[in-house]
Amino acid sequence: MLISGRGSNLKAILQAIEAGRLHARVEAVISSRHDAGGLQYAQRAAIDTLVLDGCDYPRREDYDHALQGLIERFKPDLVLLAGFMRILTAGFVRQFRGRLINIHPSLLPQLRGLRTHERAIEQALPMHGASVHFVTEELDSGPVFLQVRVPVLAEDDAASLAARVLQQEHRLYVQALQLLADGQLGWKDGQVLYQGQPLHEPLQINAG
Ligand code: GRF
Repeated sequence: MLISGRGSNLKAILQAIEAGRLHARVEAVISSRHDAGGLQYAQRAAIDTLVLDGCDYPRREDYDHALQGLIERFKPDLVLLAGFMRILTAGFVRQFRGRLINIHPSLLPQLRGLRTHERAIEQALPMHGASVHFVTEELDSGPVFLQVRVPVLAEDDAASLAARVLQQEHRLYVQALQLLADGQLGWKDGQVLYQGQPLHEPLQINAG
């Protein structure tokens, strides 16, 4: 699992595993920053943690090459991004195609990129949310397979909206991973399959 900061999604995933709600194992957590708060959750769970600092690799290709090497040591089935604040090179993405998953705080394809909560409010969107998707070369554009919708309230500011979306993200990522772990959802020849059939629209979970 790749992180850069707070690590609340990592924490939620570890809690779900611990509680038996998610049948998976986190092999390692790699952070792009030494001071990522999320590293503590992995350390507490006795999971290997590694830091690969972007400052040590001025060239993006070199960073991603080193990252690939670290990941391959653990031979993971999936590589999860959760607040990993780096744009990945196309070469890296190709190496892990079909196994690289990200969570993004918007109803993709709406609001790709950063500051999604601020922009949802600026654009007076009635509905916001979060998406889990396979990562492809283009930023925040790979096939989305699971979403949760979160209404924007009249009294919301970016912080209150972000907090409600984040709560739902934690449920969403766990459910997305369980679908993958169960083999209900998968990737074949550039297509997302749900129960063996091509998935044309993202599945939705209800905001809990
Ligand atoms: C989440 O909002 C996630 O959707 C986005 O970055 C944030 C990471 O939060 N990609 P955390 O580090 O998991 O708390």
